[in-house]
Amino acid sequence: MNDTVRYEIDGGVATITVDRPDKLNALNVETLHALRDALDTAAEDEARVLVITGAGEKAFVAGADISHMKDLGPSEAHEYATLGHDLIEAIESFPAPVIAAINGYAFGGGAEIALGCDMRVASERAIIGQTEIDLGIIPGWGGTQRLPRLVGDEVARRLIYFGDRVDASDANELGLVGEVVAHDELYDRVDDLAAELASQPAFALAAAKEAINQSHEGPQAAGLAFERRTWTSLFGTHDQREGMEAFLADREPDFE
Ligand code: COA
Repeated sequence: MNDTVRYEIDGGVATITVDRPDKLNALNVETLHALRDALDTAAEDEARVLVITGAGEKAFVAGADISHMKDLGPSEAHEYATLGHDLIEAIESFPAPVIAAINGYAFGGGAEIALGCDMRVASERAIIGQTEIDLGIIPGWGGTQRLPRLVGDEVARRLIYFGDRVDASDANELGLVGEVVAHDELYDRVDDLAAELASQPAFALAAAKEAINQSHEGPQAAGLAFERRTWTSLFGTHDQREGMEAFLADREPDFE
């Protein structure tokens, strides 16, 4: 793709590697563009699974590039936020499952890339955090929206408000990653998972992904209104009547 992003495809499994290990794979503008191009290529190649990881022994992605962000004014910051948002939305809506192979540090924008993926497999060496508060900012590439969805509101607030850096095992307990494996087994495990996903019916997988993504669409107000309408519509059904009558009669309900 360019010097900072590698792309490969093999047996329907595309792999994108952020390759700036001397800067712990921090994402500068060039790398963000290259990642976006790599995603487009994977889509053109009709990859059945996409894996995203980081080069080197230490980092998945240590975040947005702080040396680039340091002197940004509001309009440049908006532009940089847009680049990151577009990238992570493209990951989230990629028409096949995307696995984050978290091989080390995943901070700030690196954690947000992982949040945009369908599943996260962490090496036992991974350390993950929305650490932006330490820089006097907040997560700017979707972390405030996607993190609470994944780990729940209070845990997300704590992670974001305190900028905690959690190790792989804690991340797993919090639901931030799906599984943790020994460091030298990370890519074997991801290969197995990817091969299994690649053998699943691709249209059904893409449909499942789109449908699950839909469940996160729309503002909370719309969700609450939907809930209220649906809740109301259950009144008068056999099961609602039966369930409530059974409770009051202290017997087991006989549902349809
Ligand atoms: N942006 C720009 N450069 C970064 C970076 C980032 N997010 N994270 C690391 N780097 C650079 C360092 O400046 C250093 O560059 P240098 O060798 O030219 O001085 C290089 O990567 C290695 O990092 P270093 O801090 O020396 O490694 P370490 O092993 O001591 O610490 C971290 C690793 C990840 C704990 C530390 O680099 C860190 O906290 N990074 C910032 C993480 C962060 O806040 N990310 C959120 C950004 S929104």
